[in-house]
Amino acid sequence: MNSDAIPPRVRMENITKSYGAVQSLRGVTLEVAPGEVLGLVGDNGAGKSTVSKVLAGAVIPDSGRIEIDGEPVRFEDPGDARKHRIEMVYQDLSLCDTVDVAGNLFFGREPMRRMLGIPMLDHAKMHHDAREMLDGLGIRIPSTRLDVENLSGGQRQAIAISRAVSFDPKVLIMDEPTAALAVAEVEAVLELVQTISRRGVSVILISHRLQDLFLVCDRISVMYEGQNVADRKIGETNLEEIVDLIVGRKFKARSARALAEN
Ligand SMILES: Nc1ncnc2c1ncn2[C@@H]1O[C@H](COP(=O)(O)OP(=O)(O)O)[C@@H](O)[C@H]1O
Ligand SMILES: [Mg+2]
Repeated sequence: MNSDAIPPRVRMENITKSYGAVQSLRGVTLEVAPGEVLGLVGDNGAGKSTVSKVLAGAVIPDSGRIEIDGEPVRFEDPGDARKHRIEMVYQDLSLCDTVDVAGNLFFGREPMRRMLGIPMLDHAKMHHDAREMLDGLGIRIPSTRLDVENLSGGQRQAIAISRAVSFDPKVLIMDEPTAALAVAEVEAVLELVQTISRRGVSVILISHRLQDLFLVCDRISVMYEGQNVADRKIGETNLEEIVDLIVGRKFKARSARALAEN
């Protein structure tokens, strides 16, 4: 390799992971450049969530190699990944429903102040900082004092993404962020993805909504039964080809079986 070449932000090589007899990942290789938005697609069970969790430190792979900016890393837990500035927004969002917006954004690291020497939660600062954080990302939520359970799906998604962004990630993984949203809300989340990537953050976006990926991604990687089967620059592919790549082999296998049976 040319010594001047900038290494990819993330390089995952030959990652394998089995759960008992189920081979979830059969040697996945994945690269993301700084500031790139990578769409990760594949049928249910293809291994998208598992490979993402490996990168986020939530799943320990059986074998394989991960490099961040050219340096080999080993993650034992999400804290390790966070130290390397990798954040993931999980499909279930992991928010506390009965806690307000600001409380969710700062959960576990709430700003404190001392009153008569006693440490107290600094509510004013927390709400002020929460408002700044949301405004900076162009997120419209009327009050940071609303409990998260009272927000719409899109607003909840935006809170989970903001929380992840507040850790100043180099890589942000989002697992199906638009799956359960109304059209207008999908647009807001996609705008948020663009805002984040413009800051230089590499984004890995898992989505079944292929039309969304064509709006925001630079590249799409297709997984099939625990492997990557194709990688396409967005300008060099189209929806039809991606659909074929996602289901293709299965259809081919089916038609081959049908032919053999007839
Ligand atoms: N914790 C787990 N225990 C057992 N099997 C799992 C676990 N996580 C994932 N799998 C299996 O691994 C395969 C890939 O799953 P997953 O990564 O969730 O796929 P995707 O996100 O592409 O739908 C599936 O067959 C799934 O059932
Ligand atoms: Mg999944």
